[in-house]
Amino acid sequence: MLKGILIGVAATVLSGIAGAYLFLSLGLMPANADAKPSFMEKWAARRSLHATLSREAQPGTGPVAVNDESLLAGIRLYAANCAVCHGAADGKASNIALGLFQRPPQFAKHGVEDDPEGEIHWKIKHGIRLTGMPSYTATMTDSEIWHVTVFLKHMQELSIKAEAVWKALPSAAAPVPASKPGK
Ligand code: HEC
Repeated sequence: MLKGILIGVAATVLSGIAGAYLFLSLGLMPANADAKPSFMEKWAARRSLHATLSREAQPGTGPVAVNDESLLAGIRLYAANCAVCHGAADGKASNIALGLFQRPPQFAKHGVEDDPEGEIHWKIKHGIRLTGMPSYTATMTDSEIWHVTVFLKHMQELSIKAEAVWKALPSAAAPVPASKPGK
């Protein structure tokens, strides 16, 4: 009896593994970046991100206070590291952003002001697996990451000085050519 159950369980597990292997090696799971993700892919990515964030993201607000100095530093870092994918104040996407899967949100239109600071910080520090969102662990200090976090968190309520600097950043969108090459 027990032996029969064990054989049944082993056969089910093995056929599951063989099925997954065939699914992948026959190319049934798309590897291209220009198609919409399947329901399963989206579900698995979201579940794992939420579970990781609730375990690892720091609760409450971060160590950097909101003032002209921190906002300006955050904007400078954002311009150098993030605007290429997340855009400037005009909310227009670059060609890089338009070709990515998942699409990076253009923060001027779809910001993260409602997210906890710890969650924004975690995403910048560690990146988001299986998307174009890079990890900045190796390239920015923790303090720099908190400065960008403060800017993103308060993007809708910037000081007059910070607002002027943010609005003056060049658009990330590709310039429209006067005429197409070769025409
Ligand atoms: C090469 C492109 C790229 C660059 C550069 C980049 N990101 Fe991202 N980022 C993405 C993509 C793609 C996503 C969407 C991931 C997803 O859908 O889960 C994302 C998501 C995010 C999110 C989560 C957005 C949300 O709605 O939950 C935050 C926060 C973020 N990025 C911040 C930054 C910051 C800050 C920088 C610069 C320090 C940066 N990113 C640089 C591509 C990029």
